[in-house]
Amino acid sequence: MSTAAVMENQPHVPEVIPTFTATLIIRRFDPEVDDEPRWQDFDVELRGTDRVLDALHKIKWEQDGSLTFRRSCAHGVCGSDAMRINGRNRLACKTLIKDLDISKPIYVEAIKGLPLEKDLIVDMEPFFESYRSINPFLMASGSPDKERKQSPVERARFDDTTKCILCAACTSSCPVFWTDGQYFGPAAIVNAHRFIFDSRDEGAQVRLDILNDKEGVWRCRTTFNCSEACPRGIQVTQAIAEVKMAVLRGKP
Ligand code: SF4
Ligand code: FES
Repeated sequence: MSTAAVMENQPHVPEVIPTFTATLIIRRFDPEVDDEPRWQDFDVELRGTDRVLDALHKIKWEQDGSLTFRRSCAHGVCGSDAMRINGRNRLACKTLIKDLDISKPIYVEAIKGLPLEKDLIVDMEPFFESYRSINPFLMASGSPDKERKQSPVERARFDDTTKCILCAACTSSCPVFWTDGQYFGPAAIVNAHRFIFDSRDEGAQVRLDILNDKEGVWRCRTTFNCSEACPRGIQVTQAIAEVKMAVLRGKP
């Protein structure tokens, strides 16, 4: 009998995927019960491919159904599961447990600077209010017969800031935003940049006037927390610097 035939006759033995136990310490808050947030730890059995989001699901499904967090796509697209993981803003669905130091507990808490609603959920309305205030849509007059044309070079000018998924990781990592509830925040400026530098847009000056406000771009202290936090790799601090320059000199 050939080797191939022998292999075919072998019973299929399912591969055993190794598991390990990680401890997550989660900052919990239930407004109906708690006066203050409290930390609660959970031991979870995980595999090397699991992400923090998988660990949260396991806790919710197997240990404590009251654990509350947001998620939708689970693949880094919708921006709904930004949270502080070991003191750094990240997307839970993009953070592999094995990339963290599992010899120590993993601390998970809600992003800072926005009103805490429950467990890992904050009220995002102040964040979206800032976003809406910079007119995050194309402002262009006339009705062209066909498309509004743009060269590849013109398109490349604002390519980086088109990648924003509005997760708030940047804004909620900004110390100015933590202390000054009125600051527009990095995400709003990133999304203003996306239109200010779009050659088809005619609303740049409107947005620049809005961001020249005392709570606008000049509140930025260039701490780079925002760029480090962005899960899309957007050069947030650079975008803010370019908007500052445009406020001073006009749209280039
Ligand atoms: S700029 Fe980056 S961190 Fe900020 S909201 Fe957009 S995707 Fe999130
Ligand atoms: S769940 Fe959509 S970005 Fe993480």
